[in-house]
Amino acid sequence: QARKLFDYNIVLIGFMGAGKTSISEYLKTLFAMDVIEMDQIIAEREGMSIPDIFEVHGEQYFRDLETNLLIEMQERKNVVISCGGGTPLRECNVVEMKKNGRVVLLTASPETIFDRVKDSHDRPVIENNKNVPFIADLMEKRRAKYEAAADIVINTDGKSIIEVCEELVQKL
Ligand code: S3P
Repeated sequence: QARKLFDYNIVLIGFMGAGKTSISEYLKTLFAMDVIEMDQIIAEREGMSIPDIFEVHGEQYFRDLETNLLIEMQERKNVVISCGGGTPLRECNVVEMKKNGRVVLLTASPETIFDRVKDSHDRPVIENNKNVPFIADLMEKRRAKYEAAADIVINTDGKSIIEVCEELVQKL
């Protein structure tokens, strides 16, 4: 595959289980782009898992780390930034995202999301409420913020990773 150079960063946002990690991994292979998996970098730097960071330092501390990382990444170009599901909830994070480049919102129905997250245990926000009504409710509460942050919206329901990436590349 030919290397494609974007003079901006691609910022992936969306609810937990929307497909941010899967799509970023595929873009990495397709375009030889570096991927910044925000949760992973934060966990590595802090030397503890995301649930532990929430438990020990609290959510605000975690959100501050997200903001700082978004600012740090503005010095780079041609990278895919895979945000945490809650990153766009802070208005200042949205401002920093937009400075990075194109913000792509991945969406899916609550049923699809439930199916994708039901077996994982690394998401403290839903760990004790892993059911469709809770997911639907939280998604509804976040919807306006996600949509306000997005330059491009892609629904992932029933689509393969390749199909989502094709749609994304067309819309970039
Ligand atoms: C969160 C989503 C998680 C992670 C943290 C908080 C959220 O990321 O950043 O658990 O508030 O939606 P994923 O979307 O990668 O699961």
